[in-house]
Amino acid sequence: MDKLVITGASPLEGSLPISGAKNSALKLMAAALLMEEPLVLTNMPNLADTRFMARLLQSLGVTVEWPTGESLCRLHAASVSSTIAPYDLVRKMRATFNVLGPLLARVGHATVSLPGGCAIGARPVDLHLKAFEAMGADIVIEDGYVKAAALRGLKGAHIQFPFVSVGATEHAMLAAVLADGETVLENAACEPEIGDLATCLNAAGARISGAGTSVVRIDGVRSLRAARHDVIADRIEAGTYAIAAAAAGGDVLLQGARAQDLGALIELLRRAGAGVEAEPGGVRIRRNGQGLQAVDVDTRPYPGFPTDLQAQFMALMTVAGGVSVVRENIFENRFMHAPELNRLGADITVRGAEATVRGVPSLRGAQVMATDLRASVSLVIAGLVAEGETTINRVYHLDRGFERLEEKLGRCGAQVRRESGSA
Ligand code: EPZ
Repeated sequence: MDKLVITGASPLEGSLPISGAKNSALKLMAAALLMEEPLVLTNMPNLADTRFMARLLQSLGVTVEWPTGESLCRLHAASVSSTIAPYDLVRKMRATFNVLGPLLARVGHATVSLPGGCAIGARPVDLHLKAFEAMGADIVIEDGYVKAAALRGLKGAHIQFPFVSVGATEHAMLAAVLADGETVLENAACEPEIGDLATCLNAAGARISGAGTSVVRIDGVRSLRAARHDVIADRIEAGTYAIAAAAAGGDVLLQGARAQDLGALIELLRRAGAGVEAEPGGVRIRRNGQGLQAVDVDTRPYPGFPTDLQAQFMALMTVAGGVSVVRENIFENRFMHAPELNRLGADITVRGAEATVRGVPSLRGAQVMATDLRASVSLVIAGLVAEGETTINRVYHLDRGFERLEEKLGRCGAQVRRESGSA
């Protein structure tokens, strides 16, 4: 298994491009199942997860033209040849569960493995299934599989989510697009990826309004037509490199980053002592000489501070002056990076959903283990700050969500190299 070796303690200077958003791309790819005509996605991130989704779609009969390394991907579901997503595929990547709604809407039935828990929490899918039931689907859970049928088609419904779920909002939208009548989603998630999905579906002839607010209306249509869509910039990748620049110091332009999607992070970075400015080409982040101040972090659904940046911000707080309290409100087990950061000399105590980070003057390089995608990249940030060499084992997690990480950081002067070897 590959590992990353980082020689830290030098500032980042330069510019790096932000890729298309993984968490948008995965749902956009699932949307192709709704269309008899081709869906062309541009600005597609070349990641283990998006490539994996492409393989699943191919197994369902979708023609996928996506040459290695290219950012243009053409998906064509002229017909659907299978409606089964087996355990082995869904287990490896939860977002594959999102083919259930489109299959149900297009073909009237689907059998998709329950995703099960993962490293960061239990992550049930009850809200997804309740939404489909409200639209008239019969759902049976048998042998670890969700067997869903709506043989006379899905019907528009009024769905009030008990709490905010990104996945359930997107999944219900995907299914409702071809339902008969109007669907209203209340207490919907407002993440930018939801607006991106609606923009793409509307370009294909769907009638969705309110995406990006807490009430989304979907007026069902009979079919969708061919469309072309540019995947939104990845706000989590941009936020990660913004935090990296704040942590290591220096001056970095994040090309293509959208400041409007990063409001909660930008506010905290400024309070912590970094300069952040929107520029025509992206977002610039600067910290030259001045120290970092501890600030508290509370993860919330958008527009609150994203859980997907919590680990990275905690890495930043390890070297800030003072004590920071980091509260994780979205997932029940998302502090696995804390003991690894402590191996680098950080002082973090975790109690339940709260981590107390006492800032230390500096970190020191060590061997650490990546546990999930965002935890892994928090260790990269810590490695960039630490004196000496940090070796991050099991970096395959990083390859799921960060495109050309070593190359991008290398452009800004970071010393990050990949070595093949055992974990
Ligand atoms: C999406 O996961 C993202 N994944 C996650 O990113 C992200 O952390 C999360 O949204 C929150 O922003 C993708 O988009 C592929 P939720 P999702 O449904 O949709 C509970 C990353 O690192 N819940 O908003 O699964 C759930 O357990 C990943 O890129 C239910 O109880 O998140 C969680 O506690 C990790 N029942 C909370 O809601 C349900 O039916 C919010 O989850 C659905 C969710």
